[in-house]
Amino acid sequence: MSALEPSTGGTAIAVRGLRHAFNDHTVLDGVDLDVPAGTVLALLGPSGCGKSTLLKALAGLLRPQSGRIDFGGATVCDDRRHAPPERRGLGMVFQDYALWPHMSVAQNVGFALEMRGVPRRDRPARVQEALALVGLHEHAARRPSELSGGQQQRVALARAIVARPQVLLFDEPLSNLDRALRESLCVEIGALLRRLGTTAVYVTHDHEEAHALAHTIARMAHGRIADLVMSKPRDSA
Ligand SMILES: Nc1ncnc2c1ncn2[C@@H]1O[C@H](COP(=O)(O)OP(=O)(O)O)[C@@H](O)[C@H]1O
Ligand SMILES: [Mg+2]
Repeated sequence: MSALEPSTGGTAIAVRGLRHAFNDHTVLDGVDLDVPAGTVLALLGPSGCGKSTLLKALAGLLRPQSGRIDFGGATVCDDRRHAPPERRGLGMVFQDYALWPHMSVAQNVGFALEMRGVPRRDRPARVQEALALVGLHEHAARRPSELSGGQQQRVALARAIVARPQVLLFDEPLSNLDRALRESLCVEIGALLRRLGTTAVYVTHDHEEAHALAHTIARMAHGRIADLVMSKPRDSA
C-alpha cells in the first residue's frame, strides 16, 4: 500500500457572479456556486451548456469577463487578479488523458512535480506513491502507447494527485472508455477521493456517475446553476 499522506482536506471553492461570452454568445451568465472543503460536486448538464467553460475558469485556463472565484481564503480570480493554473494548487483530469507520448509513465507523473518546483531527489518516491494509489506502480517504465485507455486515464489521475492538490477538477474523464471500464474506474476514483479528502468538481453528463461520486449534484442550464441536489451526506461519500 502507498505511503502517500492523506491530504489535510481540500479547500472550499466559492464562485460569485461569473460571466463569460464567446463573441455574442453568453455561456456563463452569472454563475454562483459553493463547494464545501473536502466535498465532491458533480456538474451535470447537456452538451454545450457551459460545463467545460466553468471548469476552465476554475482551473485558470480561461479568464472570465467578470465575477470572482475564491479557493479557501484566497481570491484566485476577480476584476484585478487572475492566478495562473500552477498557482491554484489544483490537479486536472481531462477526457482525452493528455499524456506526453514520448515520456514514460513515471516521467509523465513526475513532470507535474517538476512544474511545481519539487526538488529532483524527492520526485521518484512521490511518483511511485501516486502510481501505487492508482495501481500502476509496475508500469512506471512504459510509454502511454503501451497501455490501455483505462490505464492511460489512471496515469492522468496519478499525475493530477501527485502534487497533493487542494482541488481536483475532472472534465468527463470516463467518456472515452467502454461501459465496464467506466464503472470500475468510477468506483476507483470515488475511493481515491474519499481517501485523499480533496475538494473536487467532476463534470459529466452521466447521471449514474454523478450519483456514484458526488456529495452534491449541480445541474447547469442557461449559463447558470439551475439547481443543487444533495446526493449523499458528507461522511458517506
Ligand atoms: N473557445 C471557444 N470559442 C468560441 N466558443 C466556444 C469556445 N469554447 C466553448 N465555446 C462555446 O461555448 C458553449 C459552451 O461550451 P462548453 O463549455 O464546452 O460546453 P459543455 O462542456 O457543457 O459541453 C458552446 O456553445 C461552445 O460552442
Ligand atoms: Mg465539455
